[in-house]
Amino acid sequence: MTEDVFRLSSRFAQMKSSPVRDIIAVMGRGDVISFAGGIPDPSLFELDDFKESFAYVLEHQGRRALQYATTIGEPELREQAAQRLSRHLPTAPAQIQVTSGSQEGLYLVATTLVDPGDVILVERPTYLTAVQAFTLVGARLVGVDSDDYGMLPDALADAIETHDPKLVYLVPTFQNPTGRTMSAERRAAIADVLVRTGVPLLEDDPYGELRFEGEPLSPIAAQPGMAERTVLLNSASKVMAPGVRIGWLRAEGQILRSLEIAKQGVGLQTAVTDQLAIAHYLATYDLDAHIARVADVYRTRRDAMLAALDARLPAGATVTRPEGGMFVWARIGGEADSAKVLPLAVDRGVAFVPGWPFYANNPDRTTMRLSFVTNSPDMICEGVDRLAAAWGW
Ligand SMILES: Cc1ncc(COP(=O)(O)O)c(C=O)c1O
Repeated sequence: MTEDVFRLSSRFAQMKSSPVRDIIAVMGRGDVISFAGGIPDPSLFELDDFKESFAYVLEHQGRRALQYATTIGEPELREQAAQRLSRHLPTAPAQIQVTSGSQEGLYLVATTLVDPGDVILVERPTYLTAVQAFTLVGARLVGVDSDDYGMLPDALADAIETHDPKLVYLVPTFQNPTGRTMSAERRAAIADVLVRTGVPLLEDDPYGELRFEGEPLSPIAAQPGMAERTVLLNSASKVMAPGVRIGWLRAEGQILRSLEIAKQGVGLQTAVTDQLAIAHYLATYDLDAHIARVADVYRTRRDAMLAALDARLPAGATVTRPEGGMFVWARIGGEADSAKVLPLAVDRGVAFVPGWPFYANNPDRTTMRLSFVTNSPDMICEGVDRLAAAWGW
């Protein structure tokens, strides 16, 4: 009778397991084509470069790599992170806190800033595991209306007036789940609202470098007046490898110290071996060339998925056309509920993530997220055929 022994906190009582993680857990079935997780294609990992990097660290820095270390992170990695960020936004190594993936960054920021009941404004829809991290600290999430270019500045201004939020959370580039990107004009307009109202921004950018076409955009943190009011999250997961659990955040002023203290309590430090290996990898190998190789493969897969969907989707359905990242977002419309279609789809050998958990409130249940990165174009076509059969298109 262990359920009576542990009395869950009231905050935890609101928690639900991530539908994506649950779907990934049943994906062991080899015959299922999964469009569910944002899982990088492992055949594209630069395995030899990683082998050399880890061997180098153990050979030359082994005793240091196996020891406890600072919470803020290893200087070599902070230096590399600052250099990459400085392409868009001047950044000193002293402004970098290493994190165990950007997911930890989300939790650190939430736990540092949010009291139970405080409001965080999020996009409609938003990244669902951010919803989990924010819920863990008792935040009240309010979705703000968005269009093809992201959150609407007027809707943001109204929501700030109504809810007095602690924080606004945005994924401006190749957003998870929609794949959409905020235009340069929209970034400036959102920054204007935030500067005018004094509300800080949590900007999450794990996909920005994964661009297949079009001009790179600087983070909102690079807009006038925004650097000091933004915590900007970056990650090695989507452009190098997610298994190392390396990310970093950029922040200025007092908040950086508070985030460091929060991380002391959460996990002491990020694995030193992994930090030093990623620092060596970044200093030694050409990450831009790797990203270009990955983008070539993913571009072809995105095109295959969009072509297959265009041929199959019923009249009135829409799908996003991202210039990078990992996801397209389909809206079927009508009375359809994608969560009810999912078991039928899995029976036919294809999986996706239903749209509803990506909404803070009032979900659009006719939506679904499809990842195009993990399967070959032929598998994608077969998967979309199975999807069409499950939906009855
Ligand atoms: C928008 C967004 N933020 C954060 C994360 C977490 O990534 P990681 O902790 O692997 O860096 C993800 C992963 O899918 C994501 O899509």
